[in-house]
Amino acid sequence: MHHTFSHTTFCIRTFGCQMNKHDSERIAGMLEGLGALQVDTYDEADMVVFMTCCVREAADVRLLGQVASLKNLPLPKSSKLDHRIIAVGGCIGQRDGEKLVRELPHLDVVFGTHNLASLPRLIESAIEAGGHHVEVLDSAETFPTDLPSVREHSWAAWLPITIGCNNFCSYCIVPYVRGREKSRPLEDVIADARTYVAAGVKEITLLGQNVNSYGRDLYGEPRFADLLDEVDATGIARLRFATSHPKDLTDGVIERFGTLRSLMPALHLPVQSGSDRILEAMNRRYTRDHYLGLIEKLREACPGIALSSDIIVGFPGETEKDFEATYSLVEEVGYNQVFTFIYSKREGTPAASMVDDSPHEVIQERFDRLVDLVQEKAWQSNQVDAGKTIEVLVEGASKRDRSVLSGKSPKNQTVHARVPEGSSADELAGTFVSVKVEEARTWYLSGSVIEDEDAGRMLKSDAE
Ligand code: 5AD
Ligand code: SF4
Repeated sequence: MHHTFSHTTFCIRTFGCQMNKHDSERIAGMLEGLGALQVDTYDEADMVVFMTCCVREAADVRLLGQVASLKNLPLPKSSKLDHRIIAVGGCIGQRDGEKLVRELPHLDVVFGTHNLASLPRLIESAIEAGGHHVEVLDSAETFPTDLPSVREHSWAAWLPITIGCNNFCSYCIVPYVRGREKSRPLEDVIADARTYVAAGVKEITLLGQNVNSYGRDLYGEPRFADLLDEVDATGIARLRFATSHPKDLTDGVIERFGTLRSLMPALHLPVQSGSDRILEAMNRRYTRDHYLGLIEKLREACPGIALSSDIIVGFPGETEKDFEATYSLVEEVGYNQVFTFIYSKREGTPAASMVDDSPHEVIQERFDRLVDLVQEKAWQSNQVDAGKTIEVLVEGASKRDRSVLSGKSPKNQTVHARVPEGSSADELAGTFVSVKVEEARTWYLSGSVIEDEDAGRMLKSDAE
């Protein structure tokens, strides 16, 4: 227990990607390790930590609003501090550094993406000496792994295998705020995976900006497929990974979707655009045909695999014809889910200096058309599961109704089912149940939990 942090409370707000969510779990782990208590709301918190994202402009605006809203909020009654400590980390911290405390003078601490571990020291200085404490490093010396973490769900773990990105897609700020790609040694990844399995974790998600290029900086050749084999061999029940760059998705990895027991039949493979001209301007380094070829191979290796994607609408110079190419690609692939974004200009990226003269209304209209198609295709792709019995990893009660449980199918669809008599959603969280799907909707499946005879037999023999 550490005297500065004992009897203090903290709250973390996380924006952006899974890497940020994972970083937040590590911040929670560090602060709890020092004796602070995590709370849910700003009112209850002595310290508020923002983990920020700068991939699109909307996230910047939101951060400023949230920080401003804290200015006049009183401290919790029992607080021993003289003011609420506000810390900003993650990608905006990395990008803006000192500039942030000039814009937001009531900020106490700014840290970046490479120095999470410094946060307790920075907060301590702010509490003890007052003033602003800004620390942003250009890059991480080693892969930051030895930080404790408090996982959001005890049965699911994010496991970073690479950090940073070398791809420099022309619209993207990530390589500038997350630095060059670094892979974590295979042995360390496997050691973590084993620890998770031993602790009862049911699902591991391997994380990286581009997991497919894992190992290039370590072994001189791509070794992501080997890594999948080794994580599978730890006995983990469910294995997933994000994110994949299509140019680096190898036949070996595609094959694993058909052969590895734990690798779930779902892949997020961002296409960004269906137009070769735009893909080139985006510096994506693959063509529409190459991408569609990958989809074909994936479906051969793993029939029924669920596919999801990211798409940017309104990239500089996008014409109606380019947009139609994106539209028809979505029609052709029939994704289970697509995250659609309107292009957002990020200073410092190559795309920021490209001519960008499409009227906003035109882009918005394209965006709306695409969203309609995405929904139609999501509904259609879910229909194949109506009537099937699927294994669901329960996450807890549904938000609307505590007598309904919510969980995830192997294809990562959200599944709802009534909690069986004599049980509760909380009790079932982190376990598998079999659900017979009665209705397939656009964004979820609903059905009934069925008695699993095999599971019953296994329980019996365990008891003997
Ligand atoms: N504008 C809009 N969307 C963007 N993305 C990344 N940069 C931008 C940008 N400048 C999207 C991409 C990426 C996802 C995480 O965010 O689609 O895959
Ligand atoms: Fe950004 Fe492209 Fe790297 Fe993804 S692969 S983080 S879109 S630069």
